[in-house]
Amino acid sequence: MKHIIVTGHSKGLGAGITMALLNENHYIHGISRTDNTDLQKLAAAKGCKMQFYSCDLSHTDTIESTMQLVFKNIKQDECEGVYLVNNAGVIHPIGTLETLDPMQMDLHMRINLLAPMYLIREFVKQFNDWKTEKRVLNISSGAALNPYHGWSNYCTGKAGLDMFTRCIATEQEEVPHPVKLMGVAPGIIDTEMQTTIRGTTDEQFIHRQKFVELKETGQLISPTLAGKNLVELLFSADFKNGEITDIRDQY
Ligand SMILES: NC(=O)c1ccc[n+]([C@@H]2O[C@H](COP(=O)([O-])OP(=O)(O)OC[C@H]3O[C@@H](n4cnc5c(N)ncnc54)[C@H](OP(=O)(O)O)[C@@H]3O)[C@@H](O)[C@H]2O)c1
Repeated sequence: MKHIIVTGHSKGLGAGITMALLNENHYIHGISRTDNTDLQKLAAAKGCKMQFYSCDLSHTDTIESTMQLVFKNIKQDECEGVYLVNNAGVIHPIGTLETLDPMQMDLHMRINLLAPMYLIREFVKQFNDWKTEKRVLNISSGAALNPYHGWSNYCTGKAGLDMFTRCIATEQEEVPHPVKLMGVAPGIIDTEMQTTIRGTTDEQFIHRQKFVELKETGQLISPTLAGKNLVELLFSADFKNGEITDIRDQY
């Protein structure tokens, strides 16, 4: 049995990833604020084990106890691999720096950067001695490499997550049973996050119109296809420790 922990499994890309994981050899552990009952029904129909853990990842002090609940359901003697997909994320606040609320900036960094860092810490600690396959896939963005006017928080959080991925990857190279970590930009996907981007004002985000056009000209990737490609990478022999990649360069 492969155990896969997916944050933000309830909608968007996370739901696409979870959909691609549904099979009888997988046990999916979904961490979000809300569950997805359609996915639960599909999982049951496919004989796939799936457990929902309610957690607001902005409350970073609850991450350790949530992961302890997950770990109770992962038994070493029946485990063929453990995987963590750090997918949950937010785009807001959007706007030039002087218009941003510090509380919103704080919330953003807790969800997009600190939560994945703490989740990886729990994962690495728990499975330190396990000889099974251990992988962490962090969902990054092209915004980690390219500065966007009005997206200072999002770009900074994703760039930070990429660097964290690379740092922990170097640490893991020195241990007997390493966890492998990768960061991947998933492309531009038709999710609520894109709806939020299109719903900003041109003052908040000067490139808003470009994202409206991407939607209108059918250039957004479906969460189902993006999820399928990411799951392929997660289990692939091409999963290279410490690498940051763009899924569009892979598939
Ligand atoms: N969409 C794109 O074009 C695009 C492009 C590049 C990268 N990405 C990245 O892909 C990932 C998924 O984005 P998406 O587009 O699928 O966004 P989305 O449709 O808005 O979904 C976000 C997911 O994150 C969860 N989440 C948000 N805040 C949370 C919190 N405080 N605690 C726990 N879970 C929380 C949500 O679950 P609940 O609401 O149930 O908590 C939901 O499942 C993000 O990391 C994003 O940065 C997206």
